[in-house]
This record gives sequence, C-alpha cells and structure tokens, in this order.
Amino acid sequence: MTKIIGSKQTFLEADNETAMEFLNTVADITRVPEYRKLMEYTHHNSTTRFQHCLNVAWYSFLWCKNGNLDYVSAARGGMLHDFYLYDTKEFRKTGASHNVVHPRQALSNAKKYFEVNEIMEDCILNHMWPSGKGKPHTVEGFVVSAADKYCASLEWGSKKAQQIVPLIRELIGEGDEEQ
Ligand SMILES: [Fe+2]
Ligand SMILES: [Fe+2]
Repeated sequence: MTKIIGSKQTFLEADNETAMEFLNTVADITRVPEYRKLMEYTHHNSTTRFQHCLNVAWYSFLWCKNGNLDYVSAARGGMLHDFYLYDTKEFRKTGASHNVVHPRQALSNAKKYFEVNEIMEDCILNHMWPSGKGKPHTVEGFVVSAADKYCASLEWGSKKAQQIVPLIRELIGEGDEEQ
C-alpha cells in the first residue's frame, strides 16, 4: 500500500504532510484483520479490492480537502465503500444484483467494525450511483462515487487492450458492472 494508481504519490516520504495526514486518517482501518481480507480478492482484474479502496480513499481525501469538505469522512467512506467479502463472479451466478447488494453489505460490515457517521454512510451506500439503488445526498458522497469511477477506469485500463476486450464482452453480457 505504498502507491496510488494514476498518481506519483507514494507514502514512503515522511516529510509529505498530505500523505502522512491521509495515512493517519485511514491507518486504523487497514489494521483490522477482517478488512485486510480484501487483499485476497482480485478487483477490476488488475488489482486487489484492498488497493482499489485505498485508491478511492486517496482521491476522495484530496478532492474533498481541496473543496473544504469533510475529507476525513470522505476518505474513511472511500476506504469502506467496497468492504464486502464475496467473490463477485460467483455471486453473479445467483442472479441477484451485485450493484444493489454489495454497497449494503459494505455498510453492514463497516458498522460492525468502525464508527460510521451519516456522511460515511452516504459514501458507502450510494457509491454505485447512477446504477444501484440510491443517489448520494451529500457532496462527499458524490465525490466518493466519482473517485470510484475514476479509479475503476484506471484499474480496468491498466490491462492491455487484447485483455480488455473479452472482459468488456463479459461485462456487457452480464450487464452488472463492478465498481
Ligand atoms: Fe462498489
Ligand atoms: Fe469501488
């Protein structure tokens, strides 16, 4: 967890105040064993679910900090937005909607292990907008939703074109994209 996708940022420079503040904001989450299980799941075919959440949290933190918003809640909401522990491909075989179910499961897991305020709840529950069920009702919720799509694009795009085409075909066939 030293590098963020699409960014020159690393978390190895102790004199980087922004990076250190970000790490202090989310470090306790990364230490919880149940949360660390996200490292075991491949996400967007190029990374882990843990790294994806870290990527989303970083951009949510930065964009909200620049906008004088609640960047702590946005970063923590970003960390927890995909805190679900099932294999997406296996889940889709059940016929249930992954886009609707996984934000709810992430919120339930988040509440089990961490304090979740109203802004964080919005960030987690409504991050799939405009697919899924709900629409964000806080600015921070919109930012996390946008950061999720930005990171998902970078993560999917980090695969070579010939690897991406079959994946897109699979996504179109299932009509239930993963973000
Ligand atoms: Fe998601
Ligand atoms: Fe996501």
